[in-house]
Amino acid sequence: MRPLSPADPDGSPSEAGTAGTGGQGLVVLLSGPNLDLLGERQPDIYGTATLRELVDMATEEAKAFGLSVEHHQSNHEGELVEQVHGARGRAVALVVNAGALSHYSWSLHDALAAFEGVVVELHLSNPAAREPWRHTSVVAPVSDGVIAGFGPLGYRLAMHAVARLLDGGRT
Ligand code: DQA
Repeated sequence: MRPLSPADPDGSPSEAGTAGTGGQGLVVLLSGPNLDLLGERQPDIYGTATLRELVDMATEEAKAFGLSVEHHQSNHEGELVEQVHGARGRAVALVVNAGALSHYSWSLHDALAAFEGVVVELHLSNPAAREPWRHTSVVAPVSDGVIAGFGPLGYRLAMHAVARLLDGGRT
């Protein structure tokens, strides 16, 4: 895990980035293209939960670990890059379901490489068990770990993983 930077002094106290599960560390959850259609989009693959429901689930789980969640969804690569930049020095972790950008966005890769906290790559489905073009992730090399294939549960697992990693735990 890469070292954490100090909290942004201008950040609001409840969202200031403080390491460890005891404080109110901020986790920025990013959702990429087409995830705004969850609930309607290919429910056989992605399930019927809406993005709002997944974010609520993640927020509830994070709260149990003393973490807060800020969520951003965009269908635009550059906007997601900007969100990663905006998380620098402010958030303790990024949880990223970049949708299809996961498989080819080197600009997102580079932005994540410049983020100093924990990075968890997240997918509802298991891309490794799908079409060959989904087998490559350019986000994985700049992530601490990947959670994929567990559907909505993955959003809870990601927050759990963040909390454990911030605590220095890998068991
Ligand atoms: C996804 C998997 C990607 O391959 C796909 O392009 C998505 C969703 C997932 O959550 O399973 O948009 O990231």
